[in-house]
Amino acid sequence: MSGFFVRFEAIKSKIKIMKQRVVIFEAEGGTDKGLDGYRKDTIPIANALRERGWNVDILKFRDEWADKIYNYAKDRYDAYITRVNPGTIPSGEKIFFETLRKLSDAGLEGFSHPDVMQDLGAKDALVKLVGTGLVPEDTYAYYTVEEFKNTFPRSISFGERVLKQNRGSTGEGIWRVQVIDERPYKPGDTLPLDTKLKLTEAKDNHVEYKTLEEFMDFATQYIEGDNGMLVDMRFMPRIKEGEIRILMVGEEPIFVVHKKPAESADAFSATLFSGAKYTYDRPEDWKELVDMFTGRLPEIMSKLGNHDAPLIWTADFMLDWDENGNDTYVLGEINNSCVGFTSHLNQGIQDKIADRVIELVSKKKA
Ligand SMILES: Nc1ncnc2c1ncn2[C@@H]1O[C@H](COP(=O)(O)OP(=O)(O)OP(=O)(O)O)[C@@H](O)[C@H]1O
Ligand SMILES: [Mg+2]
Repeated sequence: MSGFFVRFEAIKSKIKIMKQRVVIFEAEGGTDKGLDGYRKDTIPIANALRERGWNVDILKFRDEWADKIYNYAKDRYDAYITRVNPGTIPSGEKIFFETLRKLSDAGLEGFSHPDVMQDLGAKDALVKLVGTGLVPEDTYAYYTVEEFKNTFPRSISFGERVLKQNRGSTGEGIWRVQVIDERPYKPGDTLPLDTKLKLTEAKDNHVEYKTLEEFMDFATQYIEGDNGMLVDMRFMPRIKEGEIRILMVGEEPIFVVHKKPAESADAFSATLFSGAKYTYDRPEDWKELVDMFTGRLPEIMSKLGNHDAPLIWTADFMLDWDENGNDTYVLGEINNSCVGFTSHLNQGIQDKIADRVIELVSKKKA
């Protein structure tokens, strides 16, 4: 065989391997759908891929269809993109994630693989980043009720804390905890179980009063069960100036959302429902923060499981001061399970998403 023929055969087999087909998964129900039953950002992604010559199918996932979907998809597509908001599947994500895992094992590129959603998106990602300067050193995760009950009565003596559950979203089970007891104590003390606490939930900034013991008994629900944990982080008072979200496609910052909590005295939540006001900015408007974050991406990714940067994801920051009184930024959360971007559809973000999918699939199949 001539060298030319061998090379030709090699190229031909590569063409065969890459099917240029992508499946997008959605789920029925949820408040994120348009009149056509799809998320408003799904069809634009599909169309951007189609404009580039790729085939796209959009399948609605149901638990009872899991095997059928797997068998249908496993040899048909190069990649899957998931557009399923946590909580949309009535029975939970377990079977959906199992199906995605099997599809990845069958060779499909995952946007995102469940491990990536977990490694970056779980609340304890913050704890894995302790030591990088991106989160306060005194950030903890409790995986057992025992650890929580042993450690929290002392951690709260150092100042206001925010306790974050892992499940749920939009501020549900995210509690600002303040000691309002009259009795004197000093940092490092283990506070007594009858210490009076003021508790504000980020869901709607509503306030409750409980003793330390009552609160810890109440909060054990967040630790028990699948993926249960509580992250214990110091309260960042400059949250009043807003949470700053960077939306990323892969390694590229696309836009910044500045979310200012409502004006009321107790408000600390940046969620829309709680009354926070959103302003959309360009990455250039937050150059210092964005440069810091993109510069540190390799370190962040290596601490969070060494994955490629997800297709569409966000990192949320709060302002703080360094020892010289200059602004610094503290990471509050990473999201990468089903980040929406409808605010920027007319600015071509779907094109960047399609390019990223094609680039990564081509790289993996080459
Ligand atoms: N350490 C902190 N100090 C001050 N405010 C905080 C802190 N952590 C969180 N918050 C506030 O609480 C809100 C909710 O917390 P967080 O973003 O961690 O959870 P979530 O919004 O429920 O999760 P998701 O964004 O996945 O729905 C934030 O938007 C922010 O306003
Ligand atoms: Mg959040």
